[in-house]
Amino acid sequence: MFEKMQASALLKPLLEGLDTEEISAMLEYPSDRKLGDIALPCFKLSKILRKPPVLIAKSLSEAINASGNDGTFEKIEDVNGYLNFYISKESLAKNLLNMSIDEKYGSSDVGKGKTAVLDYSAPNIAKPFHIGHLRSTVIGQAIKNIYKFCGYNCIGVNHLGDWGTQFGKLIVAYKKWGSKEEIEKKGIKALTEIYVKFHEEAEKDKSLEDEAREAFSKMEKGDEECISLWKWFVEISIAEFKKVYDMIGAQFESWNGESFYFDKTDEVIEKLKSKNMLVLDEGAYIVPLEEYGMPPCLVLKSDGSTIYATRDIAAAFYRKKTYDFDTCIYVTSAGQSLHFAQFFKVIELMGEEWAKNLVHVPFGTVSIDGAKLATRTGNVVLLEDLFREATEKTLAIINEKNPGLENKEEVASAVGIGAIIFHDLSNNRIKDINFVWDEVLNFDGNTGPYVQYTYARCAGILDKAGDFGKKTLAPSCDAEYNIIKTLELFPEKVSQARKELEPSVISRYMLDVCQEFNRFYHDCPVLKAEDESVRNTRLAIVKATGNVLKNGLELIGLKTPKNI
Ligand code: ARG
Repeated sequence: MFEKMQASALLKPLLEGLDTEEISAMLEYPSDRKLGDIALPCFKLSKILRKPPVLIAKSLSEAINASGNDGTFEKIEDVNGYLNFYISKESLAKNLLNMSIDEKYGSSDVGKGKTAVLDYSAPNIAKPFHIGHLRSTVIGQAIKNIYKFCGYNCIGVNHLGDWGTQFGKLIVAYKKWGSKEEIEKKGIKALTEIYVKFHEEAEKDKSLEDEAREAFSKMEKGDEECISLWKWFVEISIAEFKKVYDMIGAQFESWNGESFYFDKTDEVIEKLKSKNMLVLDEGAYIVPLEEYGMPPCLVLKSDGSTIYATRDIAAAFYRKKTYDFDTCIYVTSAGQSLHFAQFFKVIELMGEEWAKNLVHVPFGTVSIDGAKLATRTGNVVLLEDLFREATEKTLAIINEKNPGLENKEEVASAVGIGAIIFHDLSNNRIKDINFVWDEVLNFDGNTGPYVQYTYARCAGILDKAGDFGKKTLAPSCDAEYNIIKTLELFPEKVSQARKELEPSVISRYMLDVCQEFNRFYHDCPVLKAEDESVRNTRLAIVKATGNVLKNGLELIGLKTPKNI
């Protein structure tokens, strides 16, 4: 990154009309080190400059070499239409020192003065927090951390599913079969049980559905009894969700769920009406979207009640007004992609130019050891069980490998839960994932424990070393060179992860760092290095690796125990 920036700065005066960011985006890392550390493929410029790439490369190299550079590059030459930059040893040494000193290495201020709203997690009241919501939570929290690290002001919103006809069902179910004590004791589990029972009974007795509709309509009218039951369900559920959030380090600035928009949807309907966007369809109001290749967006049901989409439109307006966001990001399963595309379009058609700043971040499904997770039937793997299992399994591994470890339980939970998070974030989010315990917890595989373990190894070496001299040499062997070059990529990876809204860029990058670091550690004695300056240089490599792994792990929501 450093070097890409330095190379673009050298090129900028020669390439009129392009800024350093645009130039930087054209630069590549050649796969063969003989072809330089960075290269500019000049065919990318031939359209703009209307010259063949070979000539462009030649004239750029002549111009740059004539004016000289500040010592960052020891050689800049053109070969077959490529401009190749070779980094000087001094500049590598300098970069290494910077990376080792800067504890916030990788952060930036590109988002300074900008606000990002992140809508993630959003479980449904009275329903278990299942593994799909876990995905939304870990992906959303990671994206939020990444945005923060890039200087954005971030507002995490938990758009709880706390309104809708299902609460009518729950109220009826509670009145018929519920027990206060049971619910107080068993929480969501007991609520789900009566909810499931409602569906079973409603199969036989259709009038139950009418009762439920009536109960919800009473709720919407503010009926005291219904509202207080609903509030109680919400309280019980949130208390349980918070336990999960504490375990995985998720934090929200706002808990405004769907119910918050109940009294804000009339305004949306009025606006849509005044813009002549509504069409009456069998008693319901819809916004036709056929022209845009989508089914219509239903906003008002024939019984006059609003739905999920109406509340989402109201929420978007409210957030724009309250936070004046530059971007509003929604993290949900890919199953909801149409819903987001529809309501984004509706807002755009209402003439709101900020509709273009609404972004849906979809992700794939999850299964455990091959079994898909159903939600409706109550056949869900509860997260607490999942976390407990991960922690127990990790504790067993620790007891075998490092029985004398202090705070074993704490470390086991950091590593066990971290393993689940890491696994969730280790592939492109859109891919479906499958949990196989042996893969998730493998300390030697491409896993969270492996990265945390490598971080702990760095911390251990630095602990033993104590203070060391802050002067670094240029890399003297391939192993040193390779890890330094890998560490230099961190800021670029952070930026890529932010732009692509893809935390897996960071997880996968950390695996590369670990691999290069462990190779280096295997090949190069650090504490026992014979020469003092070599020792300092290698310690700086360890320190810089530690910084990258610590920041990277924290970005994706993992803890960083110093001892495993
Ligand atoms: N509660 C919804 C669900 O569980 C997710 C809400 C996502 N956010 C939103 N603004 N629609 O499917």
